[in-house]
Amino acid sequence: MIYFDNSATTRPYKEVVETFQEVTTNYFGNPSSIHSLGQQAEKLIQKSRQIVADILNVRDEEVFFTSGGTEGNNIAIKGCALQYKSRGNHIITSKTEHASVIETCKQLENFGFDVTYLDVNNEGQVSIEDLKNSIKDSTILVSLMHVNNEVGTVQPIMEIGNYLNQFPKIIFHVDNVQGIGKVPLNLRKANIDLCTLSGHKFHGIKGSGVLFVKNGIKLEPLITGGMQEGKIRSGTENVAGIVSLAKALRVSNEKYTLHVEQLQEMKNELVKYLSSCEDVIINTPIMNSAPHIINFSLPGIKPEAFVHELGKNKVYVSTRSACSSKKADVSHVLSSMGFDKTISGSSIRISLSYGNSYEEIIKFKEIFNNSLKQFKQLMR
Ligand SMILES: Cc1ncc(COP(=O)(O)O)c(C=O)c1O
Repeated sequence: MIYFDNSATTRPYKEVVETFQEVTTNYFGNPSSIHSLGQQAEKLIQKSRQIVADILNVRDEEVFFTSGGTEGNNIAIKGCALQYKSRGNHIITSKTEHASVIETCKQLENFGFDVTYLDVNNEGQVSIEDLKNSIKDSTILVSLMHVNNEVGTVQPIMEIGNYLNQFPKIIFHVDNVQGIGKVPLNLRKANIDLCTLSGHKFHGIKGSGVLFVKNGIKLEPLITGGMQEGKIRSGTENVAGIVSLAKALRVSNEKYTLHVEQLQEMKNELVKYLSSCEDVIINTPIMNSAPHIINFSLPGIKPEAFVHELGKNKVYVSTRSACSSKKADVSHVLSSMGFDKTISGSSIRISLSYGNSYEEIIKFKEIFNNSLKQFKQLMR
């Protein structure tokens, strides 16, 4: 099997699964219970919070555990909008955000919020000038992603954060679900107030995530109840998910230090190969893109059919993002980047992880070549 769909989800690391099993079996107490089993579970959560905080270079009381990226983005955006609505009702985001941001903003529009969706250039980046021109007295939130999940474009988060620093009333939220462990981001230096992570994107277990909330920022909770996680997210904690997320983040961080160059080289090799295929158009920008995502189009070929063809050979890739890949329309990311329907309706995404190898790249080329040849013959 060649698994090149790591932006959809990753295979949990072996040690992460072991940790999950150990915690869920032996530390099953409810962290809110006052007996020793509950206290042990609570201690594990606090230890995990400290590990995550140390890796992110933030304080432990700024780390909140969630169920993943969609929930983190919802809590950040709606929680901020509801909390600060007396200050203003304007939100700025971009046209190429993940559905969990765009749909959340659309929902807020139905409740009377005013949302600006920034354009992107042909490489998928927002312009700081556009952002500057969009700011109003009523702006309360800017929500932008660090790494785009479809094409891998890296947004200039540091510059944006530094610019926004002069507006103390504007909260800066960053969706870093695709960037963590792949593209460094210093939350403090970039003046980020809220940052979303998702465990299953860095070899953790599905149903685990982190929302960083800078000290002093308040969020109206969306889920009320037992006031767990600083009242931001009530509900009995997913202890095993939390502990295994901390483990996954630690391992991913180590892999980044040791193997990010290798990851970039594998991507370069794939880009070089795909560029040499006459039917392929590369959509991922060469500069300012993450080391693990390659998006390309096969004009005239139905991408779903081609993904299935590769799947028959146990090569797993995506058409666009996992949550929109079953919808038949064109990619909103590629359309926003200015690509026409032939390109934006025929895109395929390869997303690598530190677990992939050169041998897989070589094998992939062979399978891709044969599959493409067969496809073209069928189309004649
Ligand atoms: C950029 C981005 N944000 C948010 C999410 C949602 O994360 P989750 O699957 O944990 O809900 C994803 C998932 O693909 C993503 O790529």
